[in-house]
Amino acid sequence: MTIEDFEAAARESLPEHVAGYFAAAAGTGSSLPEGIADWSAVRFRPKVLRDLSDVRLDTTVLGLPVSTPVLVAPMAQQRAAHPTGEIAMGRAVAKHGSLLGVSTNTAVPFADIADTGAPWWYQVYVTRDRSLTELLVQRAVTAGAHALILTVDMMALLPPTVNPRNWPDSVGKARMTNLSAEDLAAAGPDATEVDFSLTFDDIGWLADLSGLPVLVKGVLRADDAAECVQAGASGLVVSTHGGRRMGPSISSAHALPEVVQAVGGSAEVYVDSGLRNGEHVAAALSMGARAVFVGRPALWALAARGEDGVSSVLETITAELAQVMLQLGVTSLEDFGRDLIAPASH
Ligand code: FNR
Repeated sequence: MTIEDFEAAARESLPEHVAGYFAAAAGTGSSLPEGIADWSAVRFRPKVLRDLSDVRLDTTVLGLPVSTPVLVAPMAQQRAAHPTGEIAMGRAVAKHGSLLGVSTNTAVPFADIADTGAPWWYQVYVTRDRSLTELLVQRAVTAGAHALILTVDMMALLPPTVNPRNWPDSVGKARMTNLSAEDLAAAGPDATEVDFSLTFDDIGWLADLSGLPVLVKGVLRADDAAECVQAGASGLVVSTHGGRRMGPSISSAHALPEVVQAVGGSAEVYVDSGLRNGEHVAAALSMGARAVFVGRPALWALAARGEDGVSSVLETITAELAQVMLQLGVTSLEDFGRDLIAPASH
């Protein structure tokens, strides 16, 4: 099944409010298709006569070995897609030697996610009552998270029509489920809201708190990228949150080159939003991404076919990337560079 088939099948089987939440993009909604189109617009400069008898897709992400540069983005409410949520997602990720981003708003206990065998990075939304974030981070560290992804781009709420807060209680909606009722009762009424006072200094706070490397997700500018690294970030994720941050935003494909240049090798740069096939991944790697995250393709597949669906998406995109590498005349991820793409095309 193609990614489009998975999406069609998922939309058919999911309740309307869940499918609506998964599909949602900010503003008029055009930022998602435009973000995809910007990846598709990249034009390559293929090489010839480079011994291609051994093509390898393995790499490391913040020191962790992975077999593919196609990683799975942190996404909330996965148990509304499939009853097993991140457990199915994690099993498929483990099978393909990928890595799983785990949302603050997962409905699955961290220990169960760790049991899937997938390496995972825990995504943090800093709460107004920071003691709740501290509890969640400590639990994620104890359960074996390898890094933290600090998401800094969702200061505006999704429209009420698609916001899971307005879902009926029964659909397995998740809101910091790794906190207990007692943890929440001890906190104030707005305790779980996103903390708007967040600044670059909080990167160091999270690194100290966890003892883990911190990636900052949602960076779209060179100056922000440089300041994050200065403040102690080990990695950045160039992202428009899959077009969910704001309608008329620059796309990830257009922001990635300036971020890579600003960081200059002093941190690893990742990218997501709108990546749908091996050519898109190759474009991102050529611009200097260490690896990419896919969001909705994995989520729709989870909803349509559970673990097998996610497995199929990871396998397909990875196999496509291997094909594109043959077309481009490169044999390893280290061979990717700006010389492989036409400057005018992005
Ligand atoms: C997300 N994303 C997200 N990001 C994050 O940091 N924490 C979260 O809880 C969520 N939740 C979430 C739910 C849903 C339904 C979607 C679609 C996305 C954003 C996600 O990590 C990633 O940035 C985008 O999904 C990537 O874009 P594509 O691949 O979906 O186009």
